[in-house]
Amino acid sequence: MTVIPPVLAIDGPSGSGKGTVSRAVAKALGWHFLDSGAIYRSLAFAAIQSGLNLDDESSLADLALVMELVFTADDPPKVMLNGVNIADEIGTETVGNAASCVAQLKVVRQALLKKQLSFRVLPGLVADGRDMGSVVFQDAPFKVFLTASAEVRAKRRLKQLKDKGHDVNLSGLIVEIEQRDRRDRDRAESPLVRAEGAVLIDSSDLPIDEVIRRVMSVVEPVLG
Ligand code: DC
Repeated sequence: MTVIPPVLAIDGPSGSGKGTVSRAVAKALGWHFLDSGAIYRSLAFAAIQSGLNLDDESSLADLALVMELVFTADDPPKVMLNGVNIADEIGTETVGNAASCVAQLKVVRQALLKKQLSFRVLPGLVADGRDMGSVVFQDAPFKVFLTASAEVRAKRRLKQLKDKGHDVNLSGLIVEIEQRDRRDRDRAESPLVRAEGAVLIDSSDLPIDEVIRRVMSVVEPVLG
């Protein structure tokens, strides 16, 4: 009998806490973890490095197919692009915004699909992104849509970036976050939406432990 690995899809806008929550939940469940945003970020980074235009569909799709991308099992994982760890480089706002641009293109999304599907292995997968529950793992038995107000998300991002030594200001970040939200929500291909059946969690006023508890409570009654 073939057992289909279960998937917990966690989608939402940037800064909603998806990354932290998804990693913690994957660890608690002992499941694999897919950071699909890191795949789009890696492609955007590789494109910038190669001097490609971020709307050059066919070159971007070719690059997506040839880039060799490996996430290591370290905590946090290394993101190895053609043998070089780019985990720090892809964490910037510039790369995040570039990722949001290349992610609008249908050919790019198609080229990156197989890579994402390959993460679905036993005992299960927690998949973090924008279209995990609506497109990539549409048949996922567990779906969550995690959100928070733009201001709260910008404040969280500000703290993360300042901790890393980046020089940023709150008002600029709010504008960037709202722009990125619009681009991710309004695009024709796999826009950011709450998938049918996804449990909505607004993390604006919740401590992270409570968000993790609520996400776990989506899965636990079924897993026992
Ligand atoms: O989650 P993130 O901020 O690392 O994602 C960076 C960008 O990549 C995001 O603004 C849109 C794109 N993305 C996407 O289109 N689909 C996904 N499943 C994940 C990310």
